[in-house]
Amino acid sequence: MSNAGDLSGRFIVVGVSGGIAAYKAVEVCRQLVDAGAHVAPIMTPDAERFIGKTTLSALCSEPVHTSLWDDASPIPHTRLGQRADLIVVAPATARVIAAYAAGMSDDLLTATLIATVAPVVVCPAMHTEMWEHPAVQHNISTLRSRGVHIVDPEDGRLAGGDIGRGRLAAPESIVAAVRRVLAPTQSKLAGRHVVVSAGGTREPIDAVRVIANRSSGKQGHAIAVEASRRGASVTLVTTADFTPVSGVRVVCVETAAEMKSAIDAAATSADVVIMTAAVADFRPVPIAEGKWKKEDGVPPIVLEPTPDILAGLGAAKRPGQVLVGFAAETSNLVENAKGKLARKNLDIVVANDVSQPKVGFGHDTNAVTIVTKSATHNVPLADKHTVAAHVLDSVEQSLHPTQEHP
Ligand code: PMT
Repeated sequence: MSNAGDLSGRFIVVGVSGGIAAYKAVEVCRQLVDAGAHVAPIMTPDAERFIGKTTLSALCSEPVHTSLWDDASPIPHTRLGQRADLIVVAPATARVIAAYAAGMSDDLLTATLIATVAPVVVCPAMHTEMWEHPAVQHNISTLRSRGVHIVDPEDGRLAGGDIGRGRLAAPESIVAAVRRVLAPTQSKLAGRHVVVSAGGTREPIDAVRVIANRSSGKQGHAIAVEASRRGASVTLVTTADFTPVSGVRVVCVETAAEMKSAIDAAATSADVVIMTAAVADFRPVPIAEGKWKKEDGVPPIVLEPTPDILAGLGAAKRPGQVLVGFAAETSNLVENAKGKLARKNLDIVVANDVSQPKVGFGHDTNAVTIVTKSATHNVPLADKHTVAAHVLDSVEQSLHPTQEHP
């Protein structure tokens, strides 16, 4: 099916870095130009070892840019970064991914990436061992958490005849991702207020010790970023460090009591509340004054229950408000989730079996079952941003069709 013309009027910067897959960037540029886009190519010095500048210059809408210093414009990175409707980097090497994640601007491509507020699509390509290296995965996770779109590499034949994960995605998949990102937002979350909680609360025993849990905040943060990407105005109440993202207001808290007061305040104007946080069920009472001394023996720690924030929200739920709870389970996932859905007057429960490998607390990945009053939906093991997208798809379905925003 021809899509010719559907990207007409769009200014797209295509960044090509130095990998064998650079030859596929030629096809990406050709397809974007065929679809009507104005394509401005940037090549890193290493990319020139793999393909000639003439090829890209001849195919694209303007000559290829290669340096911060040789361009007719004295500041090519800001001109390109500001004009861009979107930047796509294909292939993106481990070096370019690392520089972008670290905010380094040591060549024209990375400088342009730092100088833009346009959406960015990064298409990694490298050997399997490099792709799986914790440093590369950490950088990819950092970029995802900032709202950068990643087109995952595919399995297949790599340079030198090796076979494995790391091959650049097909040009058609890359261009489809560009179209998806540039498509006008259809999200029912646009213009809504979404409140998300994240992290694990810490309950003081004395002046230095706390009762805590293993939640890292990663799943809640991914939901906040994705909701903001869909156009929501987001309040994130979190116990964990969060790299600022536009559209997300952050409220830092520590205890269950602080989380409750921040959530209750934000929930009065919230269309959606998503409680991803692992809130302590019990807290020490009283809190010992100062530091409990070892010489004083084992402290007699007495616990009292904390208020259930979500149950409180469920009891006071406004018509049209969507309430989402999480359930960290180790058995009877769906049965327990259904119990919470009914008991706390929720619309959705996202249940994760935290006894499974790579699921739940602390991991970059999760696997969940999304339970609503009428259906259950399994999301197999995936990175937490993908899980976040599934959770918000369910939220959007709960908002449909009677609660269209004015
Ligand atoms: O933060 P990560 O490392 O990324 O890990 C993600 C996660 C494992 C923390 C997340 O996926 C998750 O499962 N969060 C809920 C953990 C939990 O406390 O579950 P629960 O079954 O104890 O609580 C059920 C629901 O009630 C939760 O939405 C919780 O936020 C809420 N609750 C619990 C206690 C309380 N006092 N008030 C609450 O609102």
